[in-house]
This record gives sequence, C-alpha cells and structure tokens, in this order.
Amino acid sequence: MLNVAAADRNKEPILAVLRESVSVKKPLQALEISSGTGQHVAYFAQALQNIIWQPSEYEHQYLHSIEAHRAHYHLHTVKPAIHLDVSLPHQCWEGIQPESFDLVVNINMIHITTMACTEGLFKGAAAVLKPRGLLLTYGPYGVNGQITPQSNVDFDHSLRRSNPEWGLRDIALLRSIGQASGLFLEKIAEMPSNNKCLLFRRESLV
Ligand SMILES: C[S@@+](CC[C@H](N)C(=O)[O-])C[C@H]1O[C@@H](n2cnc3c(N)ncnc32)[C@H](O)[C@@H]1O
Repeated sequence: MLNVAAADRNKEPILAVLRESVSVKKPLQALEISSGTGQHVAYFAQALQNIIWQPSEYEHQYLHSIEAHRAHYHLHTVKPAIHLDVSLPHQCWEGIQPESFDLVVNINMIHITTMACTEGLFKGAAAVLKPRGLLLTYGPYGVNGQITPQSNVDFDHSLRRSNPEWGLRDIALLRSIGQASGLFLEKIAEMPSNNKCLLFRRESLV
C-alpha cells in the first residue's frame, strides 16, 4: 500500500471543495482518473458515503496500491480499480458507459502528462458524465499566460526538462478545450501551496 506525502497534504482541502460542489446526501457515481496510490479515493469514500467510486490508473504498480487501500479500509463504496489510459477515446475505457457518472475527479495529472492526456480527459469526461455532471481537476495552473509564484515557474521548468511535452497548463487553454466538448468552467477554487481546483460543468452544446 503506497502513500505519498502530497496526497496526504491535499486530500482534506480537496474534500472540502467536493463537499461544497456535490450533494452529500443523494446517491452519486464518481470516476477518478489517475488515482495514483489510492489515497484520495480511500479518503473521499470514507467521508462521502453517498458516492460509489470507480478508481482508475494507467500505471500497474498503482493499481495494486489502490486495491490495498480498498482492502485496508474495507471500502464497500469503492469498486475495484480499472486500467485506464486517458489519452485513449472513452470507448476504450474498460467497462465505462457514456453518461453514467455524476462526477469525474482528476488530481495532479494534467501538468505531468502530455496534451493528449489533457485532451482525452476533457473529451472522455464530457462523454461519461451525465448532463449537469461535474469534472473536478486539481493542480498548479497558469493564469492569463502567467505562472506564479516563482516556485511554480521553477516546477514548470523542471517538468519541461524531464519531458518537453509536460508542464503547467494555462486555465484559459483548459477552459477552451473543455468548452469544445461541452464542459464549462464554473468555478476556480484557490487551494493551499499555489494550487487550484477547477470545476467544469457538463452543459448541452446547443
Ligand atoms: C503526479 S501523479 C498523481 C497521482 C494521484 N492523482 C495523486 O494526486 O496522488 C500523476 C498520475 O498520472 C497518471 N498518468 C500518467 N499517464 C496517464 C495516462 N495516459 N492515463 C491516465 N493516467 C495517467 C500516472 O500514472 C500518475 O498516477
């Protein structure tokens, strides 16, 4: 069962945004894309018991960790994790049906993957969310072409040195990619350590 410090730090602030953004009473279905170690889904599931969670991951080592968290906490509202490559069309997402989720959650993935993953995230989320469903993304972002503070500029440079296709994305770019699929940026929540939560609502394109 893997644990990373960043997920331990940000899980509570992200949960607070979730509590404000979705019903804590109505039965809901949620898909987490790039669940990582499984710390977030385990934490959210214990706090929000009205939600059935579907975790997913690209890296096989993490799939085992998600399963370990699920077993350790006896999480009956968390389904077995599935392998999901977000850069592929949603028709390739194992067993995931169109318009079947109220919520899609994606934490700290966009800046550390290629644009194909970002584009796949928005296209896929638009397809698998029910009308009026919500996509929550969390991470560091640029705003109007600017990255602040210096620590995020340095982080962006180090990501691009690791892989020129990685790096912090600008919110304006994400807004327009989302809009092209019918996901409209509804709220930007400031988070600790110069991160943000972005909340995109699935609206009809017509
Ligand atoms: C920085 S980690 C964040 C993990 C977790 N959400 C967290 O916050 O602890 C980035 C994640 O993106 C995932 N990832 C990389 N390529 C992916 C792809 N093509 N499809 C889905 N996830 C991908 C990695 O496996 C990893 O779990």
